[in-house]
Amino acid sequence: MEVKIFNTAEEIAAACAEIFAEQLIKKPDSVLGLATGASPVKTYNELIKKCKNGEISFSQVKTFNLDEYCDLPRDDKNSYYTFMHENLFNYVDIKEENVHILDGNAADADKEAADFDAAIDEAGGIDIQLLGIGTNGHIGFNEPSDSFSDGTFKVKLTDSTIKSNSIYFENDSMPRFALTMGINSIMKAKKIVLIATGEAKADAIKATVDGEVTPICPASVLKNHSDAILLIDKEAAKLL
Ligand code: PGA
Repeated sequence: MEVKIFNTAEEIAAACAEIFAEQLIKKPDSVLGLATGASPVKTYNELIKKCKNGEISFSQVKTFNLDEYCDLPRDDKNSYYTFMHENLFNYVDIKEENVHILDGNAADADKEAADFDAAIDEAGGIDIQLLGIGTNGHIGFNEPSDSFSDGTFKVKLTDSTIKSNSIYFENDSMPRFALTMGINSIMKAKKIVLIATGEAKADAIKATVDGEVTPICPASVLKNHSDAILLIDKEAAKLL
């Protein structure tokens, strides 16, 4: 696992967008694993700029998103479907049929999860997966646990995740469950890029980089991946 430390979130976004651009130039029909949250927003802005100036195109790209809340309408302002369209898809030349976002309202969550993993395999597997990291070390919504998850599954969110994400929800309306790609689904990606900024991520980054590989810190599993890179700022790196 490679770790690169930057001064600012803007530098991280530029470096991350460059990695994705290189991938799209090398393989225009790449399969991308994408993430939501605050961390990837600046990277998506850079990718939009590169698409608008003709450096890259998403016209043949397929995307698979890490996760989606359960029991939230797809067009809710806080759904990850909405997030991805407002922060990336509406501004690039991707075909809607090539966008894959889990249906958190599927009547049969297990089938939805299995179908999602099958669709990734059918697309040839994820070429490059973008990740953020939770303050508790989660990746996707793989929360700290006794064992690493396998494929995509329905998860009960932890209090720490509910606390972090409830700032986006009014009253007590934050969903308690989500569908998420499992650790094995994530680890099957050919390349993984994790971005983290800010002091609030310092403990999780310390456990990921310097700790043992343990499902208590799900991101620590990235040490077992042959091509994983962490792009982090000085604040997130302050305990290393
Ligand atoms: P953030 O979330 O990018 O909003 O900090 C990351 C995560 O929880 O995975």
